Amino acid sequence: MEELHADRRRAESFGAASDDYDRYRPRYPRALIADLITAAGLATLDVGAGTGIASVQLIRAGATVLAVEPDSRMAGVAAGKGVTVEIATFEDWQPGSRTFDLVVFAQSFHWVQPRPALAKVRGILNPGGRLALLSNRIVPKAPTWADLDDIYSDYLGDERSSIVDATRLAEVTALIEDGGFTVDNRNVVEQLHYTTEDWLNLVFTYSNHLTLPAAARDELRGRLAERIGPHGVDAVNDALAVICTPG
Ligand SMILES: C[S@@+](CC[C@H](N)C(=O)[O-])C[C@H]1O[C@@H](n2cnc3c(N)ncnc32)[C@H](O)[C@@H]1O
Repeated sequence: MEELHADRRRAESFGAASDDYDRYRPRYPRALIADLITAAGLATLDVGAGTGIASVQLIRAGATVLAVEPDSRMAGVAAGKGVTVEIATFEDWQPGSRTFDLVVFAQSFHWVQPRPALAKVRGILNPGGRLALLSNRIVPKAPTWADLDDIYSDYLGDERSSIVDATRLAEVTALIEDGGFTVDNRNVVEQLHYTTEDWLNLVFTYSNHLTLPAAARDELRGRLAERIGPHGVDAVNDALAVICTPG
């Protein structure tokens, strides 16, 4: 499996853009969130909660949420929205005697050490509890990544590939099953249109864009804006919930 979690520069890149992150990253489809909340007050842990995007949606759907997030700037945005946050990596976070009915990683599982994380999740799940990995998988359709690839290759090299592709999902599933969970995938497909500016605002919250030197980032943004032109981007979000039940 691509060991993204070892790239701490990318894992720790989000805090510098915490406000943009909260503003421009999409929320998760409501149906995926609603599916997870099987009872009012469901004790839920949101790991790598960032600015609390999933936490707030889970709370609105009826869960009681504790968030864990290592970056104090991201955590500050979440706390400002009323989310209870403990600042730590999942590896360092101390659950004490606390247990949960639901543990969520929303676009954050690839930033933790997967095997120890799965063992830790097993240890804090109540009987009948579940682990859920959420992701918005947004793919541009017009233009496509391939239409932009020659520009990206000048800046991102190998890091331009999408984080959650089909291969990675197969690898993550195998790893989770190896950790003693059964896996059930749910997805919701959304057709989206972004203005050019909104598309650029979104992709410039991705860690491979955030870790570019400022001058390269500006240049890349300008070239992408020119290539995309005034029509914006048609995209599809194949949003996914990987729901894992301990065996
Ligand atoms: C792509 S963001 C996802 C944030 C949020 N869950 C969401 O859905 O918008 C990934 C988050 O994982 C956090 N993170 C990175 N390494 C982590 C670790 N070892 N343990 C827990 N969280 C981590 C980052 O600080 C960042 O806030």
